[in-house]
Amino acid sequence: MDVLEAMEERYSCRKFADDPITAEELETILEAGRIAPSACNNQPWRFIVLEGEDLEKVDACSRCRYGATTAILVCFDKEESAKNPDVTPDYGWIDCGLAIMQMALAAEGLGVASCIVGAYEPAVAREVLRLPENLITYQFLMLGHADSGPMRMHFDRRPLEEVVIRGGF
Ligand SMILES: Cc1cc2nc3c(=O)[nH]c(=O)nc-3n(C[C@H](O)[C@H](O)[C@H](O)COP(=O)(O)O)c2cc1C
Repeated sequence: MDVLEAMEERYSCRKFADDPITAEELETILEAGRIAPSACNNQPWRFIVLEGEDLEKVDACSRCRYGATTAILVCFDKEESAKNPDVTPDYGWIDCGLAIMQMALAAEGLGVASCIVGAYEPAVAREVLRLPENLITYQFLMLGHADSGPMRMHFDRRPLEEVVIRGGF
């Protein structure tokens, strides 16, 4: 599957089947995150992998696991991320966004379904995962085998004419 195809096929899966993804699939997905671009190449991300009994920790802080058999909490180290306050308060957020998307697309290429989840309680995640103070939580990437297709929202995209501005305003 080429990259554009993976982008077209990917959707937010909100019902996963019980059979877990393989260790090799997970490794490939994590590798896709590892090689993502980051500001100044600082690679401030940390990927906290939760499977098996550890999924209880996900359920403690989010109602949006959707039965995923693997969850990755993407975080960044605020002491490692690049800063340029004129542009963004912290590049860590952007770096994590790129890493999570690369992982979602790699998953799609493997036939693994995913859902990026921002609906969680960071304070609870910090507590149950005993996160060090320097780690900022970004989003979860839920992973597994799909047991449902895309929702209507998936097909609702603004046309290019609405989002592309040529030559400035
Ligand atoms: C930063 C971010 C946070 C999201 N958080 C959630 C979430 O908490 N729960 C959920 O079901 N979907 C979540 N989504 C998925 C979006 O709702 C979804 O990407 C959007 O509706 C487009 O649908 P599609 O991904 O199926 O194409 C999130 C997506 C992004 C990018």
